Amino acid sequence: MTAPLIDPFQRAITYLRLSVTDRCDFRCVYCMSENMTFLPKKELLSLEELDRLCSSFIRLGVEKLRITGGEPLVRRGIMTFFDGMKRHLDSGDLKELTLTTNGSQLERFADDLYAAGVRRVNISLDTLDEAKFAEITRWGRLAQVLRGVDAALKAGLKVKINVVALKDFNEDELFFIAAWCAELGMDLTFIEVMPMGDIGNENRIGQYWSLKDLRTKLDEEFTLTDLPDRTGGPARYMRLEETGQRVGLITPLTHNFCESCNRVRVTCTGEIYTCLGQEGKSDLRAPLRSSEADAPLEEAIRAAIGLKPKGHDFDYSRQELGGQMTRHMSHTGG
Ligand code: GTP
Ligand code: 5AD
Ligand code: SF4
Repeated sequence: MTAPLIDPFQRAITYLRLSVTDRCDFRCVYCMSENMTFLPKKELLSLEELDRLCSSFIRLGVEKLRITGGEPLVRRGIMTFFDGMKRHLDSGDLKELTLTTNGSQLERFADDLYAAGVRRVNISLDTLDEAKFAEITRWGRLAQVLRGVDAALKAGLKVKINVVALKDFNEDELFFIAAWCAELGMDLTFIEVMPMGDIGNENRIGQYWSLKDLRTKLDEEFTLTDLPDRTGGPARYMRLEETGQRVGLITPLTHNFCESCNRVRVTCTGEIYTCLGQEGKSDLRAPLRSSEADAPLEEAIRAAIGLKPKGHDFDYSRQELGGQMTRHMSHTGG
């Protein structure tokens, strides 16, 4: 038996978020700047290397694998990788294989994802207004994403819609988005915007809409029942009794959840980040490439997790940005 991955704060690491590309076909204003410089393709781990890396994590006790980006479905050949991961689902070692996507490519890939064993997808969608959607994503088109949502549901995938709560942007759509999700039988999660990457400080504070406030608004309209449900991520769920739907809140700012953190992130170049809100990282690509055996890689994974910090320092409470990160969200996939 291999020893499980335990960090210095006695948290078991069972959830890997793997970013397979830093590229994206959108340019969401809170996530990327308009002119991003992307990594040269030769820096990327190959599909075979991604497979080896994940297989090592799974051997070390990872049970949940979430593929992220950038936009994961723009990575060339990515279905080969998903198909390969199916063997870990079949063996029972991996309990969940899933992804977070902007939805733009789902029309093309939903059926293939289902065939590879994916049963649930999280789709990022902050507004149902076409003009606002084009504004926030800069390059995205709402109709394409809605077709993606439709394709995912038709393929039999369970869908969760991720909405970043943005002041003066989607506040007015709260009930409309909730009603849409209820109608289509989708879960819905709101996320507090985090200071990742330089998009202009004033901008960030101006964007911030606290989920405490959002919850109060929901509470005025619906009967809310807190649920014990967990999906493995940081969302805490409630049920809106009038519709029966499940709504989650991800609250890094108003309610820190680092204490129960179970996850690490690996970028498409094989850097492991043990906290979304800290700079600490270690290289896994060199040990991965140094030997055909997995021992050096697994040793490097253990060493990195041995350095996992207690949590992030995000804080807006003093009307200025605390805990700001220089890297963009798209670097680690959230
Ligand atoms: P489920 O499997 O449905 O629970 O999903 P998840 O919440 O684990 O994954 P998803 O990609 O939907 O995450 C939504 C967002 O929550 C991420 O993009 C981040 O913005 C935020 N998030 C996830 N994990 C962390 C974390 O460890 N720390 C912080 N601060 N935010 C996180
Ligand atoms: N703060 C919070 N969430 C963010 N996302 C991207 N940038 C930020 C940010 N600065 C979200 C996306 C998507 C997920 C990958 O991360 O909307 O749901
Ligand atoms: Fe792309 Fe997602 Fe970032 Fe938007 S949030 S730019 S869709 S990676």
